[in-house]
Amino acid sequence: MILAECRASLGGRAVEIVGTDLAREQLARAQTGLYSQFEVQRGLPITMLVKYFKKDGANWQINDPLRAMVSFREWNLLADPRPLGQFDIVFCRNVLIYFDQATKSRVLDAIARQMPPDGLLYLGGAETVLGITDRFSAIPGERGVYGLTGAKTPPVRLPVAA
Ligand SMILES: C[S@@+](CC[C@H](N)C(=O)[O-])C[C@H]1O[C@@H](n2cnc3c(N)ncnc32)[C@H](O)[C@@H]1O
Repeated sequence: MILAECRASLGGRAVEIVGTDLAREQLARAQTGLYSQFEVQRGLPITMLVKYFKKDGANWQINDPLRAMVSFREWNLLADPRPLGQFDIVFCRNVLIYFDQATKSRVLDAIARQMPPDGLLYLGGAETVLGITDRFSAIPGERGVYGLTGAKTPPVRLPVAA
């Protein structure tokens, strides 16, 4: 949705979004593009809901153009990520909780290697890189957002529909 909102500033650049999970049932669920009322009420502005979703019984169905932007892949985060390629932005929210400190550190370092210097990492609200890796540093003023340490990353300003 955010990429669709700022399409004009992308200058026609192709965008590829890959959603991964270890669990097939989670991937299958994500592929449906169906969200419950509870899920769409957790922070999604009503203008975005109306613009990008259609009501489907008790659920909300994301529209086809947005669904077409995402491909899904079964993937274990503990595997070598190099076959997945490079990522400008990685959302790794609420997954590190499953791992011990050494594994968290290994996974984050591997993610860092798959990013360009201005890459960004999003973690869950209760997660941090502190004490786990020095490859990432918090972006000041942006909760849960990290840039590669030493990179001159511009401040993150995500557009939100009014
Ligand atoms: C708590 S859910 C978080 C889902 C989503 N990121 C969010 O914030 O709503 C954790 C997900 O991590 C997946 N997961 C756990 N271990 C994994 C691993 N080693 N590799 C990839 N995915 C894993 C689980 O299958 C589950 O779907």
